[in-house]
Amino acid sequence: MGKLKVIARLLVIVVLMATSQSFASGGAALEHSEIDPDNISSLQRGARNFMNYCSGCHSAKYVRFKTIGKYLELSEEQLIDNLMFNAEKTFETINATMPADSARRWFGTAPPDLSLMARAKGADYVYSFLKGFFLDPDSPTGVDNTVLAGTSMPHVLWELQGYQKALYSEHIEEGMTSHTFEGFELVTEGSMDAEDYDEFVRDTVNFLAYIAEPIRSERRKLGVWVIMFLIFFWILSAMLKKQIWKDVT
Ligand code: HEC
Repeated sequence: MGKLKVIARLLVIVVLMATSQSFASGGAALEHSEIDPDNISSLQRGARNFMNYCSGCHSAKYVRFKTIGKYLELSEEQLIDNLMFNAEKTFETINATMPADSARRWFGTAPPDLSLMARAKGADYVYSFLKGFFLDPDSPTGVDNTVLAGTSMPHVLWELQGYQKALYSEHIEEGMTSHTFEGFELVTEGSMDAEDYDEFVRDTVNFLAYIAEPIRSERRKLGVWVIMFLIFFWILSAMLKKQIWKDVT
């Protein structure tokens, strides 16, 4: 096979991979989460939200409380009082309160571990998922979801967000009826208004994105040092070159 052919094939693969990523979301367009990984107070709130509203069913097996505490600038006491409801030692990882077997029996699907979820599916996906529950009388949980149709996860944040219904417009073209998702309409109010709920979800997703890649910000800091180091040596070698060549030219 000629070189050109190989390159052409590689290009096709790259394009296919890029497009399959955007189709993976299944229907409704994803909202931007606009998370800020350097905002420590947002991460602290996110950690609290996660422990209060998610860790009953979901584990995060790849993160230790100790690591979270250090990065989120929490003292050991704050860590134990605010986050460690189901753990005793700070080197423990986050386990779900509900055993996986019971969860599978209850929901039909075991709630997945959320350690790497934000990296696997993307922060925008998780953000849209948590905002995408809508009333569906035919579903066993009473709700369905715009980004994960037929999900077995109940709308665990209903007390905060309230219940919304999904609005669809109907198009009839050549005898075929199709529906397009238009948006949500709040049916029952929750304890938060839309803005506060967005903030709550953004903090939670921010925390999930942090645990999915805990060394992200360290890597960025290191990157700055590497660039500075390179610039320094570039200047030094330029000066050296000038020095060495000065008698020749
Ligand atoms: C009452 C139990 C329960 C609670 C509490 C819960 N979940 Fe879930 N979650 C589930 C189940 C069950 C699934 C599997 C759903 C499926 O595959 O249809 C799931 C799936 C997910 C998924 C994966 C979706 C996908 O595309 O596969 C994400 C992300 C998620 N949950 C986030 C959260 C977050 C964040 C919280 C806390 C705000 C939370 N969950 C609280 C039961 C729960």
